[in-house]
Amino acid sequence: VSERWKKKYRAWIVRTDQGLFALSAKCTHLGCTPNWVDSEQKFKCPCHGSGFLQSGVNFEGPAPRPLERFRITLAEDGQILIDMSRVYRLEKGEWDQPESLLET
Ligand code: FES
Repeated sequence: VSERWKKKYRAWIVRTDQGLFALSAKCTHLGCTPNWVDSEQKFKCPCHGSGFLQSGVNFEGPAPRPLERFRITLAEDGQILIDMSRVYRLEKGEWDQPESLLET
């Protein structure tokens, strides 16, 4: 989990075996900014205790749904491009869409 862009863009870049995805750092409960807890491999919201797996899926606390993902693509010059105007929600089945994940 890269926190490089969290402060400026409120997003994490996450690398898994499947590839890279961009995760919104906005809690789906009331909108606080969670923290990545590396020792527990989870995102934890300081406001009311919601917890999210590395995938963004909620598993504890009051958050009603997973964190959102942003469109992630590879630009022609090889840079990773995140489009925060396009959101993908797991509960709508949108994490299956190709640009919600950059396969590596
Ligand atoms: Fe995150 Fe309430 S805003 S748990």
